[in-house]
Amino acid sequence: MGFISGNKKLLSKIATSDGHGENSAYFDGWKAYENDPFHLTQNPNGVIQMGLAENQLCFDLIQEWVVNNPKASICTAEGAQDFNDIAIFQDYHGLREFRKAVSRFMEKVRGDKVTFDPDHIVMSGGATGAHETLAFCLADPGDAFLVPTPYYPGFDRDLRWRTGVQLFPVVCESFNNFKITKEALESAYEKAQESNIRVKGLLINNPSNPLGTILDRETLKDILRFINDKNIHLVCDEIYAATVFSQPDFISISEVMQEVNGCNENLVHVVYSLSKDLGFPGFRVGIIYSYNDVVVSCARKMSSFGLVSTQTQFLIASMLSDEIFVENFIAKSSVRLSQRHGFFTKGLAQVGISSLKSNSGLFFWMDLRRLLKESTFEAELDLWHIIINEVKLNVSPGVSFHCSEPGWFRVCFANMDDETMRVALRRIKHFVLQRKGLIEVATKKQCRRRRKREISLSFRRLDDFMNSPHSPMSSPMVQART
Ligand SMILES: Cc1ncc(COP(=O)(O)O)c(C=O)c1O
Repeated sequence: MGFISGNKKLLSKIATSDGHGENSAYFDGWKAYENDPFHLTQNPNGVIQMGLAENQLCFDLIQEWVVNNPKASICTAEGAQDFNDIAIFQDYHGLREFRKAVSRFMEKVRGDKVTFDPDHIVMSGGATGAHETLAFCLADPGDAFLVPTPYYPGFDRDLRWRTGVQLFPVVCESFNNFKITKEALESAYEKAQESNIRVKGLLINNPSNPLGTILDRETLKDILRFINDKNIHLVCDEIYAATVFSQPDFISISEVMQEVNGCNENLVHVVYSLSKDLGFPGFRVGIIYSYNDVVVSCARKMSSFGLVSTQTQFLIASMLSDEIFVENFIAKSSVRLSQRHGFFTKGLAQVGISSLKSNSGLFFWMDLRRLLKESTFEAELDLWHIIINEVKLNVSPGVSFHCSEPGWFRVCFANMDDETMRVALRRIKHFVLQRKGLIEVATKKQCRRRRKREISLSFRRLDDFMNSPHSPMSSPMVQART
């Protein structure tokens, strides 16, 4: 840090800008966890990480598969014969088997209602790389993408930082469960135009991080009509597609595209990754699926900066081609996510804390508006500081997701074991009860003070009234009687 501030002239503007977004509450929470990480026996009073959308609930299934399929790992006795071929392969189209297996997996996750052509698959370093590559392909510096709020904080880094592209908020609010409405889209588009900002696209995330909700068919149709009408791109991040754990089912943009008359497919691009659905963020398997041949070709050239290693491609191709494993995995994963989600949300409901109704994702959107001292983002951050420093839970404040209303927090629930989960819930419940008690006492005190003030005011008014020359009390007749 010292080096950067002291040597700004030596380095580029992009490198030294804070476009990475590292200095936000979202990342501060991670730092707080790293400085004092919870451990059941070695650091039981440490910070519990609930700010990381990781899916660790099905590693037993993955491990079992890896042990039973040693040929898929080229560094085992059984797989070593493929080592050479894999190690020297460097075509940026990627292994054919990998693209086939990923497309098939994407179809399965979408209930086999759509088909994907492996030739339209472009690799990238996670969804992070996919977003940046698409931003580079679709927009010039200064151009903007509309994005509904609240949204995943990483989008600021991924789409904006190195590309110079802007993100322009489509403000969604709690009164209608943060629905993306036609009105909100039109209003954001108009505001951008009034500010002389050229809108090149709309970015949506379905299922949503941080809301854990999915978009319904009508909303998806409205979105498609909107982007067609404006002739702008639609980037649809479907990275949480297989995390839907209860009804209604997930609906992909690829499915709805077929139902909207005159929809220009060339405007639609899907971003996917195995970081969430399979829980492999470390493998950096990101995918751009574009319906536009020119974008596929441009993105493929750019993918040289973020390819997936062939060793990973080989393993993934083999794992995802095992349809029985995949089906079992998706089914079990959704049951376990549902149980976790229920455990936390029902537990919180017992102490009067509600969360946005959701059926997907690795998190839920907790409503702590009633625990704020006042309805401001300062008060939200004050509350967050207490939660992280005293309750020792790293949940993420809504402001870091560009939420338009203070008091919402994202709580991740799938990145910990059962015992840690119980400790986390106990801590939240305890805190909520304590805080509610404090707020009730403060409110009572306030009420008492207000009442006292009102009483003394009314006495004063009475005194004034009595002493007023117009008061009947001032009348010599009344005075005579008292
Ligand atoms: C909505 C969304 N998109 C993209 C990403 C980045 O994913 P990846 O690890 O594949 O880069 C995340 C990670 O949290 C995310 O939540």
